[in-house]
Amino acid sequence: MNTQNHRLTVVIFGSTGNLTGDKLLPALESILNDPLVGGDLTIVAVGRRDLDDSSYYDLMSGHLKTESLKDKIIYIKADVGQPDGLSGLGRFLSERGLEDTEIIYYCATPPSFFETISRQLYEYKLAETDRKSTRLNSSHTDISRMPSSA
Ligand SMILES: NC(=O)c1ccc[n+]([C@@H]2O[C@H](COP(=O)([O-])OP(=O)(O)OC[C@H]3O[C@@H](n4cnc5c(N)ncnc54)[C@H](OP(=O)(O)O)[C@@H]3O)[C@@H](O)[C@H]2O)c1
Repeated sequence: MNTQNHRLTVVIFGSTGNLTGDKLLPALESILNDPLVGGDLTIVAVGRRDLDDSSYYDLMSGHLKTESLKDKIIYIKADVGQPDGLSGLGRFLSERGLEDTEIIYYCATPPSFFETISRQLYEYKLAETDRKSTRLNSSHTDISRMPSSA
């Protein structure tokens, strides 16, 4: 893989939870300098709380060893518990120039939300099959086999 222009976006649903704080963010911190990540990582934290980039980082920074993720994390308020909760995610990614990056969607929510999340990724065309690469993962299983909207 050519890592020079490799841009990776990790979108985390359930970004305010224990799994994100205890495992996901520390794991991403630890691989930040890995050539496969390529130094161009953006973490999109999706949560229902009224936070912004700065207050989200403050909330989670106690889980991190360094400040290396500080300018890599952006927060979007979106409620995955609502049927249309992710309707603004595509525009958010596009406004930040992330729509053409490799995207990993990670479900760090209770499993009861996996269906509504994957359905919305399909409905809002956030996981188009002609994208460079899109994956959907969760703490329970790899659920990347998503319905095709092509
Ligand atoms: N913690 C671990 O180390 C670990 C390890 C392996 C697997 N898991 C699995 O990972 C999943 C998450 O575990 P966790 O420990 O991180 O749980 P948690 O601390 O309760 O966090 C759950 C996340 O989901 C969000 N959420 C919960 N109910 C919601 C609702 N009705 N609407 C919108 N968002 C909602 C929470 O948002 P709010 O903060 O706004 O409530 C939070 O961000 C679980 O399925 C668990 O079995 C966890």
